[in-house]
Amino acid sequence: MRRYPASVKIIDARRWVFSNIQSLSSGAALFTGPRSHSSSISMKQFLSAPEIGTGGAMTLPGRYFTSTEVFAEERARIFQRQWLCAGRADAISRPGDYFLRTVGADSVIVLRDATGGIRAFHNVCRHRGTRLCEAAAGRFSKSIQCPYHAWTFALDGSLIGAPSMDELADFDRADYPLHVVQTAIWEGFIFLRIEEMPDIPFEESHAPLMARLSRFSLPVLKTVEQREYTVRANWKLLFENYSECYHCPTVHPALVELSPADSGENDLVAGAFLGGFMVVRRPGGSMSLSGEACATSLGDLPAEDRQRVYYYSIFPNMLLSLHHDYVMFHTLWPEAPDRTRVECAWLFHPDAMDRADFRPKDGVEFWDITNRQDWHICEQSQLGVASSAYTPGPYSPRDSISAAFDREYLRVMG
Ligand code: FES
Ligand code: FE
Repeated sequence: MRRYPASVKIIDARRWVFSNIQSLSSGAALFTGPRSHSSSISMKQFLSAPEIGTGGAMTLPGRYFTSTEVFAEERARIFQRQWLCAGRADAISRPGDYFLRTVGADSVIVLRDATGGIRAFHNVCRHRGTRLCEAAAGRFSKSIQCPYHAWTFALDGSLIGAPSMDELADFDRADYPLHVVQTAIWEGFIFLRIEEMPDIPFEESHAPLMARLSRFSLPVLKTVEQREYTVRANWKLLFENYSECYHCPTVHPALVELSPADSGENDLVAGAFLGGFMVVRRPGGSMSLSGEACATSLGDLPAEDRQRVYYYSIFPNMLLSLHHDYVMFHTLWPEAPDRTRVECAWLFHPDAMDRADFRPKDGVEFWDITNRQDWHICEQSQLGVASSAYTPGPYSPRDSISAAFDREYLRVMG
């Protein structure tokens, strides 16, 4: 089995990483070991999973996957407070376009306003609280009107119409705008945060990601295909599964034909952002049913990127997979301790779409099959960890990024 050489070999990587992981305290931790200041990808440093090590980590106790109390705690500590990837900005390209996001009991309207900006508001009328909007996606004309008593809000959230309310002394529309949800845009992805936390700006908390992937032209990519799955498994099992390829030889026989299961090397090894690359065996090939690239390249990528797929998890709900010819991303939406809704989308460069060699289904169907293999094994995992016989087991050295995910999860859970 061919093994792609690491760009930089680190002699005593394991000892170094352990000493540095112990000093990491923020969610924005990354591999910050001895590195060149060059921005070239070829100078980034990558470690295999065994080089990173697990520190003897065991899998999480069963209650983390089954308990409604833990699930409620996760809602409060993680999904209300962390930045969640909500989708792509190109999904709402025209003024008035919107989609809804449900996070626990909260429904959020994410929209394009009249000036072209992206905003998000709680889907809650300021009169008596009614849901303003029911359809999962669509377009507002110029305003949002409550279906109950017709209070009307502009796309910037301000209250512009409230029938008969002038009869109420001291009523001032300016006192009742829609409740704002914080938003941030990164590389064409929309992020939102439910709880208002004017602490660290997104650019700071997500600094390790900021320029890391700019060579992939992410802001201009277009969504070509989307699929939705309901997985009868806890959301963390999906994250842990994404973080390792120890399972690939048994679960994904077709995948390991294209990409060796032990070829993973990681440059983000602790904190909220984790992952690195795996090697594509076939020169210029990709992850597809045919094994060939299914579109022209996303940009002027260095030769080594054409032989790699990058897999990054972005805590707590985004999985981002970058191929040289397309990008796939998953967002995870926990609905119950044992149920997660997953959205998956495939993005391509607009210049690729008019060409004869544009065959998006080749990549989409490959990953749809692979996704379903993962969901099935995660569902089997859920059944096992819910059993009275389950006790935590030792992570394999090849599971070190899964163990790193658990560490970050436990840190955020306090
Ligand atoms: Fe919305 Fe009355 S609840 S207008
Ligand atoms: Fe898998």
